[in-house]
Amino acid sequence: MSEIAPAGPVTAWAGTNIALVKYWGKRDAALNLPATGSLSLTLDHLGTTTTVRFDPRAHDDVIQLDGALADTAFCRRASRFLDLVRQQAGFQTRAQVQTRNSVPTAAGLASSASGFAALALAATRAAGLDLPPAELSALARRGSGSAARSIFGGFVEMARGERQDGADACAHPLLPPDAWAVRLVVALTTKGAKSIGSTEAMDRTARTSPYYAGWITSTQVDLSEARAAIAVKDLAWLGPIAERSALRMHACALGADPPILYWNPATVAALEAVRGLRASGVAAYATIDAGPHVKVLCGEADAAAVEAALQRVPGVTDTIVASPGPGAAVIPTPEDQA
Ligand code: PMV
Repeated sequence: MSEIAPAGPVTAWAGTNIALVKYWGKRDAALNLPATGSLSLTLDHLGTTTTVRFDPRAHDDVIQLDGALADTAFCRRASRFLDLVRQQAGFQTRAQVQTRNSVPTAAGLASSASGFAALALAATRAAGLDLPPAELSALARRGSGSAARSIFGGFVEMARGERQDGADACAHPLLPPDAWAVRLVVALTTKGAKSIGSTEAMDRTARTSPYYAGWITSTQVDLSEARAAIAVKDLAWLGPIAERSALRMHACALGADPPILYWNPATVAALEAVRGLRASGVAAYATIDAGPHVKVLCGEADAAAVEAALQRVPGVTDTIVASPGPGAAVIPTPEDQA
């Protein structure tokens, strides 16, 4: 492979995304290939800004997270990802990385999705590579499965892919962010014991949950229905699919041995509040990722009522209203504009 010269520092931004049809299980751990497709909504102001500079004098990658040196596990994961970029560019140069999340990393708001999407874009551009979006998405997947979806804005589908090298396991956009004025209201709940990471939890679920086969089959049905509901922008159709996908993902994980339980009492209370909203005529639908927080999909006009209802739930510590947002993008520096 011909050697490409590193460019100057590049800064990129990516929004996080919330899956409406969940990804939960890998068919290949080394290449991070998902067992099924998934479908998500990229959010506007919750995300990650990352600057990458390849430095010919550096002996090691230096990774800063929110202004301080990142911990060993974080550095190792980012360095392994940078190795993929170096391999593709054909050089060994170490990098300086500064990354900032617009929500606390520990809040459990899928910062790995926006984090690896921003890192994929900033690192490839800083390495002098300009990958087409589908290739960038497949690369981001190597960092975190959900990151593949944050390359694109609005409603996004991630393909399972069929190829063994994973080149077709990438995302594509279904509907741009301004095409449908939905909202996602995030209810942060008090954290219990430190929960298990998604990679380990998926692996344990796939190996030990008797419900895993049913999960794979039902996800294929959910995907085709959710795709159709998004095409006609039908919230009353999409919402129940999203809620059942999340509950089935957690049911499948609960069936693992030892069982995986991400919820706390406030998670259940927030789910109850969403059911109460629906009983009173508000089209609101819950989803939950690998953590105790509840995210509620609703229409723009109902977002304030949904947020107020979630704020009244005992154990909900904070709420955030997010809108559909754009895909990952390079942020021009003052030098670029000069
Ligand atoms: O991208 P990962 O490996 O952190 O896994 C994401 C898992 C879920 O957030 C629970 C579901 C999803 O599709 O985003």
